[in-house]
Amino acid sequence: MKESIVKSDKPGLQGVRVLLGVTGSIAAYKAAEWVRELVKEEALVTVMMTDSACEFVSSLTFAALSGNRVYRQMFAEDPEGVMAHINLSRDTDILLIAPATAQTLSRLSHGMGDDLISTTVLAARKPVVICPAMNTNMFLHPASQQNLERLRSYGYQLVDPDSGSLACGEEGTGRLPEWDVAREALLGALTLNDLEGRKVVVTAGPTREALDPARYLTNRSSGKMGYALARAARRRGAKVTLVSGPVDLDAPPGIELVRVQSARQMESAVLEHAQGAAVVVKAAAVADYRPATAQEHKIKKKAEPMHLDLVKNNDILATLGQNRRPGQILVGFAAESQNHRQEGFRKLTEKGADLIVVNDILGSTTGFDVDTNQVTLVEQNQVTELPLMSKEGTANQILNRVVALLEQQ
Ligand code: PMT
Repeated sequence: MKESIVKSDKPGLQGVRVLLGVTGSIAAYKAAEWVRELVKEEALVTVMMTDSACEFVSSLTFAALSGNRVYRQMFAEDPEGVMAHINLSRDTDILLIAPATAQTLSRLSHGMGDDLISTTVLAARKPVVICPAMNTNMFLHPASQQNLERLRSYGYQLVDPDSGSLACGEEGTGRLPEWDVAREALLGALTLNDLEGRKVVVTAGPTREALDPARYLTNRSSGKMGYALARAARRRGAKVTLVSGPVDLDAPPGIELVRVQSARQMESAVLEHAQGAAVVVKAAAVADYRPATAQEHKIKKKAEPMHLDLVKNNDILATLGQNRRPGQILVGFAAESQNHRQEGFRKLTEKGADLIVVNDILGSTTGFDVDTNQVTLVEQNQVTELPLMSKEGTANQILNRVVALLEQQ
């Protein structure tokens, strides 16, 4: 049997060099917020601004938030005697142009090099993420749409603007999206697309089994592990469906979210979506039992003890294991407090899975609710003990194994 200890992944954008190009839109103030978020995550941010961007927000704001000098001029004096746009494009991991005005889209799509941002993008051999923001008519104009098409054909990643009320007073598409959307686009652009074209179904969260209109039986689960897996799979290029029990988490961008309450609802959603899926990952904490009947009216308190009749829910993972389509990879989870390997092997066999991820749930930094996890990956011929790391890092390590299993098909 092969054993391995895999080193912890760096979480998210920590240590990533981001070169942000801010252009002249009212949404420039939101880009300042994004710099704060990036710095909070320990990304290394350098900002370039056009003159019109400086009409909206002072370069001093970006200098203070990023902790770095802000670049504005193509021909400014450079102490190292190298042109700013060449240096900037070399010394970064990714370029983020946000907000990108209609004028900027036009410049970049036509390969113009008449200001610092356009020349830097032209000179860069790094991923480029562009977030358009403008009035809705300007955005929908065929000229802008053609520019967007052309930019896509260069391999740049375009982030769709949000819809809603715009600064100009109109309603429509054109708002700079929330930071979470841009963050996912950055992480996606920095990640190898090794699940490109694959459909991945992930389950997350608890299920609720109704007892009466006011009460239910449930399991502990915040959904964090499952949501991290769904995001990680999406960043690797997969088309992701997330079947989620009731949790307090935002819908991850770019993912089809199917909300369910009970185990039976989860079962029908999973069986439907698993049909065309290359991979199914079951991180949900599904209730094994449900009340034999859900009372129509609230159960009244009585003097004598009360007994609950419970019936077993179907095991969704085992059903998938019995009916799997050729080549489909099935990943299950197990929340355990002891005998991790034995429990992992038992569930691997009983449920017909390819991989069981065993969580330690006794520690205060692993398992339910927390942002970190410590898991053992149990496969037929291999056991991998992962160290404590973020759920984001754990998700990536699980998907590394999934990709390896897909390649072995
Ligand atoms: O959501 P978080 O707060 O981040 O916590 C994450 C987690 C600890 C809930 C998660 O990582 C986890 O371990 N989920 C599985 C919990 C569990 O103990 O499952 P189980 O041992 O009851 O089931 C084993 C596997 O069978 C699981 O993949 C489960 O989804 C699946 N199952 C179980 C019962 C059932 N009726 N149908 C199923 O498909």
